[in-house]
Amino acid sequence: MPETNHQIRLAARPVGLPKDSDWEHTEEPLGEPGDGEVLVRVNYLSLDPAMRGWMNEGRSYVPPVGLGDVMRAGGVGTVVASGHGDFAAGDHVVGQTGIQEYALLDGAGLTKVDPSLAPLPVYLGTLGMPGQTAYWGLLDIGRPEAGQTVVVSGAAGAVGGVVGQIARIKGARAVGIAGGEAKCRHVVDELGFDACIDYKAGSVATELRRHCPDGIDVYFDNVGGEILDACLAQLAMRARIPLCGAISQYNSSEGMQGPRNYMSLLVNRASMTGFLVFDYADRYGEAAREMAVWLQEGRLKTFEDVASGGVQAFPDTFLRLFRGENLGKLVLEVAPA
Ligand SMILES: NC(=O)c1ccc[n+]([C@@H]2O[C@H](COP(=O)([O-])OP(=O)(O)OC[C@H]3O[C@@H](n4cnc5c(N)ncnc54)[C@H](OP(=O)(O)O)[C@@H]3O)[C@@H](O)[C@H]2O)c1
Repeated sequence: MPETNHQIRLAARPVGLPKDSDWEHTEEPLGEPGDGEVLVRVNYLSLDPAMRGWMNEGRSYVPPVGLGDVMRAGGVGTVVASGHGDFAAGDHVVGQTGIQEYALLDGAGLTKVDPSLAPLPVYLGTLGMPGQTAYWGLLDIGRPEAGQTVVVSGAAGAVGGVVGQIARIKGARAVGIAGGEAKCRHVVDELGFDACIDYKAGSVATELRRHCPDGIDVYFDNVGGEILDACLAQLAMRARIPLCGAISQYNSSEGMQGPRNYMSLLVNRASMTGFLVFDYADRYGEAAREMAVWLQEGRLKTFEDVASGGVQAFPDTFLRLFRGENLGKLVLEVAPA
């Protein structure tokens, strides 16, 4: 085992897209686990759009990452030493590891996972937080009925790809919105959506009218901005919009653009409901069991985009999310198990 641990810390609060000078690369001696603690060697890190929000000052659903702190991130890793009775060396665990090679963590925040059931990166994607987000946002808030039309943006991504597949499992039509022809082909051919609109190729509004002639019953919003406005304009009566995220706005230095077409909610007696996946923490087991069965049956496919380069590669790899360069769940390999 090495004696030092390498980390990426937040050095400055970014304006717009994070740049190299917003990060500090540090190294420090490896600690030993105290009572109740576990030392974890990080195998894969989860790179999530929400991390951009955690870098900002101000009130949110979690406190901002402090300047000088190791960047907050989920990860999956291998226990190397344990001071907690529930964990032993060799166990695989998911937790808030942060962007570093080793993490000394409170055992209370860790969940064991089994790499013989699914490869470790899947526990950061479909069988992890993004899969839970898709499941609960769609089924608890979107509540699609068989035959209804579900539209999801970010359709080739970690959350969106699962949303459309679950919509199909529940008998609804799934229409994706994604950037570029290759992603749209993936969404239809690999994920089995009924259609996918390339928002970079033309008018989303025109394509929505073509693919959703009876209106949108559920719009699962991952991106906000103009795509949200286009979907609002095409809502069916009593439509539901699970408000999951607004990635098109996360790097705006001029403040967020709100929806212009929101009167469509009134006209159509529709609703738009924000949610956080953590609200469903006590029901994660329920969703994980059902999704694991769908995976085994081949009804749910999972795609992980595994980037290499270790923690040093984090600053640039993170930006792939905002450049649309990931297909499926973006993870950074630190040290394969
Ligand atoms: N509420 C919650 O609890 C919760 C939990 C997890 C995630 N989320 C949110 O869910 C959304 C998706 O997250 P994810 O982890 O699944 O990420 P992801 O979709 O795997 O990756 C991000 C994708 O967003 C798209 N994108 C980037 N900039 C865009 C822009 N300006 N306009 C339109 N699309 C853009 C890109 O795809 P294209 O190439 O198609 O543009 C990119 O590949 C995010 O908004 C995230 O914050 C919310």
